[in-house]
Amino acid sequence: MAHSLLILPGDGIGPEVMAEVRKVIDWFGTKGHAFDVSEDLVGGAAYDAHGTPLHDDTMAKAQEVDAVLLGAVGGPKYDVLDFSVKPERGLLRLRKEMDLFANLRPAQCFDALADFSSLKREVVAGLDIVIVRELTSGIYFGEPRGIITENNERVGINTQRYTESEIERVARSAFELAMKRNRKLCSMEKANVMESGILWREVVTEVGKDYPEVALSHMYADAGAMQLCRWPKQFDVIVTDNLFGDLLSDAAAMLTGSLGMLPSASLGAPMANGRPKALYEPVHGSAPDIAGQGKANPIACILSFAMALRYSFDLGDEATRVEKAVETVLADGLRTADLLGEEGKSPVSTSEMGDAIVAALAAA
Ligand code: NAD
Ligand code: IPM
Ligand code: MN
Repeated sequence: MAHSLLILPGDGIGPEVMAEVRKVIDWFGTKGHAFDVSEDLVGGAAYDAHGTPLHDDTMAKAQEVDAVLLGAVGGPKYDVLDFSVKPERGLLRLRKEMDLFANLRPAQCFDALADFSSLKREVVAGLDIVIVRELTSGIYFGEPRGIITENNERVGINTQRYTESEIERVARSAFELAMKRNRKLCSMEKANVMESGILWREVVTEVGKDYPEVALSHMYADAGAMQLCRWPKQFDVIVTDNLFGDLLSDAAAMLTGSLGMLPSASLGAPMANGRPKALYEPVHGSAPDIAGQGKANPIACILSFAMALRYSFDLGDEATRVEKAVETVLADGLRTADLLGEEGKSPVSTSEMGDAIVAALAAA
């Protein structure tokens, strides 16, 4: 039976980068890997059509398919909306209701891009790390929350809250990943100032007893941010909470040359077929500053599809083929504008990059 894939292009550059993923999907279709693809709305696009950033029918579909692939949500047009219907709420609902607690954000510096990072070549060349971000709890979802009035002034409230089991399951995912890689895991929190950080460190340490082969270390997240810029190659797998993971993964993006390079997989508990519930999406957003101009780098979204091939469809070799095709076009010197810096030569467009990746796939 064909693997089912729900595509949610979203807003801004989301549909632009997704059009390039479609080319890759169609190419696999001609090679005996047909996917049962359906498409729907999320974010501002869903709000425009239905008055909600995620229709219940779309939510139900997302629960049924083998994998969801999302472009990006949000944009200035929606800034005026009530918080409850902002585009980002659609994405957060998907993550929460699908219970996608483990968000894998790999940051890999392709050789051809080692000079494009804002850091020195020797700092980033050969970099290959994964940030495992807890995705369904913490300050993003903790109660109480809201804006209230107290003593005649407004007070904004969000709550950082983690249960033991929430920490345990994401820690276990990170240890399992570390076992498949270099058996090195660094956990980041702020146990020096936050009780949730103290519990985080204790629980991760306890889970670590089941993984004696993994060298576990702990770091305060602020120091971790500094170390990520100073010498990122000291890390292999990093596990951290929802908010720290959001910040640290955007920082890690710049080690690879561009935010337009970073894919992600958000994984939950196994479904009946033994595969995890899963949503794949680039780490970047809807990039309103370049939307509609054919400038977006589609690689993060294409590499997110490669992660779907690996984690949801059991097509690891095909995933590697996609990654190699990306490596090939970069080695050939193809660059979207984000990878050229200010003085840039002539960048290729979003669709030229997609075409080149498909051509590289076909040539391999
Ligand atoms: P952003 O990631 O959209 O953009 C940050 C910068 O990176 C911009 O200069 C943009 O042009 C550049 N950039 C991002 N992706 C790129 C790509 N593929 N190719 C080339 N350049 C790229 O972050 P932002 O500007 O802070 O947020 C814009 C909107 O996106 C907001 O509404 C935000 O909430 C939303 N957002 C959504 C997601 C998501 O859907 N997963 C993630 C982050 C931000
Ligand atoms: C991300 C984004 C999201 C987050 C927003 C759009 C909800 O920044 O996926 O990194 O904060 O998690
Ligand atoms: Mn983010």
